[in-house]
Amino acid sequence: MIKKTTGLETAPEPIKKIRLTIDGREVEAGPDQTILQAANSLGIRIPTLCHDPRLEPFSACRVCMVEVENARKPLATACSALVQDGMVVKTDTPKVYEARRFALELILSDHPLDCMTCDKCGSCVLQDLAYEYNLKGSRFFKEPDRGIVPDPNTMILRDDSKCILCGRCVRICDEVEQAHALDFINRGFQTVVGPAYGQTLLGTSCEFCGQCVSTCPVGALREKQAEGKGRNWQLDKVQTVCGYCGVGCNLFLNVHKKTGKLVKVTSQVGTVPNDGNLCIKGRFGYDFVHHPDRLTDPLIKKNGRFEKATWDEALDLVAGKFSEIKSKHGPQGIACIGSARCTNEENYLMMKFARAVVGTNSVDMCART
Ligand code: SF4
Ligand code: SF4
Ligand code: SF4
Ligand code: FES
Repeated sequence: MIKKTTGLETAPEPIKKIRLTIDGREVEAGPDQTILQAANSLGIRIPTLCHDPRLEPFSACRVCMVEVENARKPLATACSALVQDGMVVKTDTPKVYEARRFALELILSDHPLDCMTCDKCGSCVLQDLAYEYNLKGSRFFKEPDRGIVPDPNTMILRDDSKCILCGRCVRICDEVEQAHALDFINRGFQTVVGPAYGQTLLGTSCEFCGQCVSTCPVGALREKQAEGKGRNWQLDKVQTVCGYCGVGCNLFLNVHKKTGKLVKVTSQVGTVPNDGNLCIKGRFGYDFVHHPDRLTDPLIKKNGRFEKATWDEALDLVAGKFSEIKSKHGPQGIACIGSARCTNEENYLMMKFARAVVGTNSVDMCART
């Protein structure tokens, strides 16, 4: 309902800007911004593991710790601590380095050092941080007694041994997808994420959008179809637009540099219109690309059987049929229906073809309701 105005309302208070200093540089931020956001606006990098800009802060991993001068607690998690006026933040001190290194050591305390055979190697945030903070393992290491979860779905592989309990999958399933298919289960070293009551994903409200896979910073959730087909550095990322519907999600085809095969589909946070999110079709519906039954040539039916033809032959045939119908019934004997699976430009061309070439105004669109 539109709120009626009386003309007597006072103007909204201007949003107060907060001024703070990060690594000796002054910055202005909004009162609801975090230290991480303010630091990023200065181009200062703070490492994160449980943070995803699509999600509410969670403060699970503590690798984003920074020092705050004169604060009650001198170390704060930058992803969740809000900026305050006059705050003085340091992101790169020996104390910060040690705190982050210790947090990583705790995370590695029940994480297998499987990088040699892990499909995530090369695109794993934990691996990169272990390298950056010079950690080869953990003093508290205990081999996890869990592993790949038996789940008959054909899309998402769950490897509980690799899970670092950052909660990104649980939160994205709740906050973005609103499917609520995952949660934390058990306590302590036994904690895992997964569907309730030990069900498989097929038994839940999971929509197989793969958002959980896209946000997992380690190899705990992976694309089943891509397993063993190539590491990150072996893949070229070809940016394109999903052809399944008119939303036109931005996506990357991950194509193997040597074999030329499409290994998986990903997207990128921050791109419009989908901010890294995809649906089941866009993310997992690509096996048709290399399917042997895929039509690659036009077919023309001759004597009741489809036979391969050239594009010129096929287009000549269709043009001839259009002319035949037009001369028999006039241009109104032909109607053109556009598709939501086509781009705006393709639908525009179809409309132009109908009106300007055929001469009919019978133009419609499958998505019109
Ligand atoms: S998830 Fe990352 S750190 Fe763990 S084994 Fe795989 S690549 Fe290594
Ligand atoms: S695939 Fe989508 S719906 Fe299913 S668990 Fe992951 S985020 Fe939730
Ligand atoms: S499965 Fe991945 S995203 Fe989910 S909690 Fe574990 S590490 Fe985080
Ligand atoms: S990124 Fe801040 S606590 Fe994990």
